[in-house]
Amino acid sequence: MNLIVVEDHAAVSQTAAEVVAASITENADLTVVAATGTTPMDLYGELANRRRRGELVTSGWRVFQLDEYVGIPADDRRSLYQWMKCAVLDPLAIPADRTVRLRGDAADLVAACDDYDLAIESSRGLDLAILGLGPNGHLGFNEPPSDPTSPTRVVTLSAESIRSNAAYWGDEEDVPRCALTAGMTVLLSARHIVLVVSGGHKRGILERVLRGPVTPEVPASHLQSCGGCTVIADRLAAGHASA
Ligand code: GLP
Repeated sequence: MNLIVVEDHAAVSQTAAEVVAASITENADLTVVAATGTTPMDLYGELANRRRRGELVTSGWRVFQLDEYVGIPADDRRSLYQWMKCAVLDPLAIPADRTVRLRGDAADLVAACDDYDLAIESSRGLDLAILGLGPNGHLGFNEPPSDPTSPTRVVTLSAESIRSNAAYWGDEEDVPRCALTAGMTVLLSARHIVLVVSGGHKRGILERVLRGPVTPEVPASHLQSCGGCTVIADRLAAGHASA
C-alpha cells in the first residue's frame, strides 16, 4: 500500500486522476470498478475532462458496479446504478453493453451475485478499483466483519451505513436495509486500487486502515498488504500521517 497525502479534497481528485491515468497507460482494455459516494465525484469529473481533451481513452473500459441496494430497480433515481450512470458512465461515454450491473432488483439475488463474480472472472479480474472509505472502514458495502475471502453477496447494512446513507434517502427509515456488494476477494485482487479519502470525519477510521491491525473488523485494513493499492488522502483525513 502506498500513501499519498495532499493538501485538500481538490488535490485528492487531481492526484487520483493522475494515478488512474498512469496506472492504465499499459492497458486500454480495462475492467474497472467505480465507487459512488461523495469522495470520488470530482475525480470522475477530472477523468471526464481528460477524456474530452483527448488525454484519456475510455472506449475499452468495462465498468462493474460496486454495490447496490436490494429491491431498488435500476431506473430508480436513488439506485446506485443511476448514480454511477450520471457520475461515471455518461461522462466517460461508457455504453450499457460495457457495463455490468449488480442486480439488487433480481428475483434471485444469490444468482445475481454469482453472475457478477463469473463476469469478473471471465474478464480475468479487475484492472482498476476506484474506492471510497466507509465511516466504519467498509469497502463497497463489505461491512465489518468482512474477511478478505468474502465473495460478492447480499449484506445487511450496519446502523452506521444506514445513518451515512440517509442523506441520499431523506430519512434513515427510508434507507433499504440490505444491499449487494462486490466481494472483498474481487476488490483486493484488483491490479490497481485507488482509495480516495477526504475530510476530518474520516481521520479516525483512516488511521485504523493505515496503521491498525489488519482485521475483518476494519475491512479496508486488508489493503495494507496490497502492493497495487494507492491511498490518496487530504491533510484533514490523514492528519500528520505520511507514507
Ligand atoms: C458508501 C458506499 C461506498 C462509499 C462509501 C464512502 O456507503 N457503499 O461505496 O465508497 O460509503 O462514501 P463517501 O465517499 O460519501 O464518504
